[in-house]
Amino acid sequence: MIDSHAHLDDQKFNKDQEDLIGRFDEDGLEFVVNIGSDIETSRASVALAQKYEKIYAAIGIHPHDADSYNEKIEQELIALSKEDKVVALGEIGLDYYYDNSPREVQKEVFERQLELAHSLNLPIVIHSREATKDTFDRIKNHLEKYPEDKVLIHCFSGSLETMKEYIRLGCYIALGGAVTFKNARVPKEVAIEVPLDRLLLETDSPYLTPEPLRGKRNEPSYVRYVGDFIANLRKMNLDDLLEKTAENTKEFYGIQA
Ligand code: NI
Repeated sequence: MIDSHAHLDDQKFNKDQEDLIGRFDEDGLEFVVNIGSDIETSRASVALAQKYEKIYAAIGIHPHDADSYNEKIEQELIALSKEDKVVALGEIGLDYYYDNSPREVQKEVFERQLELAHSLNLPIVIHSREATKDTFDRIKNHLEKYPEDKVLIHCFSGSLETMKEYIRLGCYIALGGAVTFKNARVPKEVAIEVPLDRLLLETDSPYLTPEPLRGKRNEPSYVRYVGDFIANLRKMNLDDLLEKTAENTKEFYGIQA
């Protein structure tokens, strides 16, 4: 199995990062994609991928940090993208829940990084919260312009209809712990309806720990709980789901492992 989205450079892993990564084999993890969210975590992500065989890196500036974006940061992202095992640009997008950066700046920086991803020929990992229409419109425009580009909606939290619209555009959908939460009715419907060849599993570690471990720190091996939960919802065999979603993850990120 694969965790398609984690933040192992987070300070919550300071104490046991090395041990935890050392357990990937026995936990049955084929690899983990570590995601950047600002320039520091993008650098950290690349460093982790260089140090550990089973880690790949994504780099990018999260909407929270959109107002830090400038020419210098963009040049560093370009330089980082040339490093080994950098497989995506992300997470990028829009977040109107926290509004940590002004919305106009978020939109501008999102559009700029979409273009950057295209010019670097990297798949794109999207973060969208409470910004469904503005995110969707930009991705739609992007894919109309560049139909070959690959886009993954990380931690998808929208409606069934929005999921279907993203699928029509050719996007991939990643689901994590939020699907397992008790009141998550719509995410469960989404988990049942996502076409199997478009679904990826993720943890977003150290956040969004799935049931029955909710409240604890999340870690990549818990992707199994997400898989188990979704396999039950879809009335399918867990191994089949893990195998198919792993295949989708490799296809999306272009990883031949
Ligand atoms: Ni994340």
